[in-house]
Amino acid sequence: MNMTQRCTTVFSVLTIGCFSLITTAHAADAAEGKKRAAVCFACHGESGIARSPGIPNLAGQNRDYLEKALHAYREGQQRQDPTMTAMAKPLSDKDISNIAMYFSLLPAQGDSHR
Ligand code: HEC
Repeated sequence: MNMTQRCTTVFSVLTIGCFSLITTAHAADAAEGKKRAAVCFACHGESGIARSPGIPNLAGQNRDYLEKALHAYREGQQRQDPTMTAMAKPLSDKDISNIAMYFSLLPAQGDSHR
């Protein structure tokens, strides 16, 4: 291997390394979402299936929709609800994407009635 080839190889390895670091840092993290969502489980259930009538199920819901809903409650322009506005206020953008990832990956209830 001559010097140029060696440099190119080292450079590629570094570049790929950096890219994987960046993607890991930006990817939504369902495990983190689960931790942050502990306060939500009282109503929405750890399995994303609501515990009382009048509370929506979140399991298997579309991830973008969940993010959009949480942003809407947090910003309080398009959506307002005394409970959810208060719940969404302290969430960061990162919390929102992690939480949305967590609930979207849970199996939806489908046709199997409780
Ligand atoms: C005290 C009960 C309660 C808690 C705690 C709670 N929620 Fe909710 N959530 C509700 C109710 C009730 C609604 C329906 C509100 C409405 O009519 O807009 C709702 C709606 C939502 C929606 C919109 C669902 C849809 O289909 O449009 C999302 C997303 C959501 N909650 C996420 C969360 C997250 C994330 C947390 C924790 C940070 C949380 N909720 C905590 C009661 C709760």
